[in-house]
Amino acid sequence: KPRPSLDLAGTAEFLKSGACKSVYVLTGAGASTGAGIPDFRSPGGMYDSLRPELITATEAQRKRMRMDPVNVVMKDMFFQNQFPYLEVRRPFILGTQQQQWKATLTHWFMRFLEEEGLLKRLFTQNIDGLDYQTGISPELVTNVHGSLARVSCEGCGYEMPFDDFCAQVRTNVKDIYRTDPTAPAESSNINCPRCNAPLVKPNTVLFGSSLPSEFFEQLDDLNGADLLIVAGTSLVVSPANSVVMYVAKDCLRLIVNKEPVGQDLGIRYGKDATRDVWAGEVSCDEAFLDLIKMLGWQDKVRKIKHL
Ligand code: OAD
Repeated sequence: KPRPSLDLAGTAEFLKSGACKSVYVLTGAGASTGAGIPDFRSPGGMYDSLRPELITATEAQRKRMRMDPVNVVMKDMFFQNQFPYLEVRRPFILGTQQQQWKATLTHWFMRFLEEEGLLKRLFTQNIDGLDYQTGISPELVTNVHGSLARVSCEGCGYEMPFDDFCAQVRTNVKDIYRTDPTAPAESSNINCPRCNAPLVKPNTVLFGSSLPSEFFEQLDDLNGADLLIVAGTSLVVSPANSVVMYVAKDCLRLIVNKEPVGQDLGIRYGKDATRDVWAGEVSCDEAFLDLIKMLGWQDKVRKIKHL
């Protein structure tokens, strides 16, 4: 295979060359920050702005558990007290129902790859469902950490209609997280109409739960990738981050992220790079706009009304 130069221009040339037939993508929260949804680990991100009493549920737990913001999305925590998860997720759940957020250019870029017959799979760690607004084929998308769009009971699996769930979130979950920083963190939950357990929540993957089985089944396909695009993820959460290791040794990897990530997974930057391209300290949307221009895909962007 001819070696593309390890920059955005080289990546664009490779995409246009016909030699690149198979593109895989892994996205994270940074793909949706342009739509107004905060990421997890940046300053001001979700884990940075949590109240301690939301992280640990009771005084006893506070003594026992490490003050780790990731607790709000831990399975153990949710089974003990549903309030932190529901409270923190409230704006996302209701924002999704009101279609508050619009797909960004980054989401659209993946759709363009599909239109060009290049996209083989989009692995997204995001639960916001913005990918689907572009009309991307759902069978090409793997929701590695589940999705907000469907709701079920963690106990018995009963599925609750999304709108019914939202109506209960509005009344049962108090929204103190954003509106009243001094209010006590009271317990609140949504009971399952079938088994009555207080365990109804969107089908997002909690730490301590397993990922959807299709994720593991699809990992081996990555061996056939000519290009892997990694966009807006810190690559610190396993096993989602293992996507970067499943591609073949000569597969070009494009990292679109404000900061270099994945060095511990073998991604190499600067003069050490042999097949990794970093788009630089730019936002995802800026980098993909540059690529779109280099690819001559501007007409595709003009057709999108809200961009
Ligand atoms: P993180 O918040 O860990 O990482 C987001 C990355 O995107 C950071 O490296 C940011 O610098 C970068 N970033 C933010 N905005 C950007 C922008 N506009 N352009 C370019 N880069 C930008 O989010 P994830 O990697 O998605 O899992 O987090 C992985 C998982 O950890 C999540 O799926 C979630 C969380 O705990 C579960 O809850 C199971």
